[in-house]
Amino acid sequence: MNQPIVDLRSDTVTKPTPAMRRAMYEAEVGDDVYREDPTVNRLQERAAEIFQRQAALFVPSGTMGNQAAIKVHTRHGQEVICEQRAHIFNFEMAMTAAFSGCLARPVWAEDGILTWDLIAPYVRGRSDHRARTGLVSLENTSNLAGGSVYPLEISDDICDRAHAAGLPVHLDGARIFNATVALGRSVVELTRKFDSVMFCLSKGLGAPVGSMLVGSKEFFEEARLVRKMLGGGMRQAGVLAAAGIIAIEESPKRLHIDHANAKFLAQGLAEIPGIKIDPAKVVTNILFLDVSGTGLTSFEISTRLAAQGVLANGVTPETMRMVTHCDVDRDGCARAVQVLREVLSGPHNTTSA
Ligand SMILES: Cc1ncc(COP(=O)(O)O)c(C=O)c1O
Repeated sequence: MNQPIVDLRSDTVTKPTPAMRRAMYEAEVGDDVYREDPTVNRLQERAAEIFQRQAALFVPSGTMGNQAAIKVHTRHGQEVICEQRAHIFNFEMAMTAAFSGCLARPVWAEDGILTWDLIAPYVRGRSDHRARTGLVSLENTSNLAGGSVYPLEISDDICDRAHAAGLPVHLDGARIFNATVALGRSVVELTRKFDSVMFCLSKGLGAPVGSMLVGSKEFFEEARLVRKMLGGGMRQAGVLAAAGIIAIEESPKRLHIDHANAKFLAQGLAEIPGIKIDPAKVVTNILFLDVSGTGLTSFEISTRLAAQGVLANGVTPETMRMVTHCDVDRDGCARAVQVLREVLSGPHNTTSA
């Protein structure tokens, strides 16, 4: 088998492009804890400009960005409202509790898209009995809900009503550029009402490391301190920021290809007996398939796919996730469909028997 691996586990697996590697090699650097790295400063200024905000902070990861924002916006003993499948609730090592001393208040929403009506019953002000709400956090696109996208009116409405209730709103926009492509709106339109925005350079945008936190100058200064508390003060980080600059300038232009590939993949998968997926729901670069009708668990399928050079993760025994990105092309997606079809049409009930 000489075919290249088709890696659909995540858009975090991308490798830096030749242009990124060149920029990293040539990057001017300094000590960023002293604010003296010219390339980090340029990345931060450019991100602030693109989002039309006062400031942006380079952080090593999306998790650190989200958790720094939560820390800045809240006080110990408060609650943070988020959707039940939110990354901050499921995959950030309970840091909302461990670091910020807050209780996550997860709320279930169809397709991961909260509305103010779903949030409002959980908003708590001063009470002798219950913890006060400190923050609302939204995720756009929603990873675990299959890359779903917030309609602009809904996210705007949540921000307006939360602000009227005296609450800040944070956006986990790890994949916000995918949302802009799906909605045909600018990143400014999608994010302008949020008090802070985290977005990742290292997912669909293809940079090797890093995320950005965007907001006011005051938020930036506080978040810088929290980043340092978390050990995220970096020194000659310009070598990383150089790739980040290319990621924000160039990569959003090609995300529509990943979306078209995800749709193509979903349409192919939908035709395989035993697989359930609604291609109409695939609007960005993430898709979930229900494999419960195949007679195999997702983990068994994952192992068998890997043996044929196709990587995809099981999420629950019944569901698998696939994510398209710049290092998987249309041929790779077609091969994934073909390999899955072969895996499922073989004598496959031996392990579960
Ligand atoms: C929606 C979302 N938020 C935050 C993160 C965290 O990013 P990182 O892996 O850089 O910590 C991820 C990572 O997959 C994510 O999907």
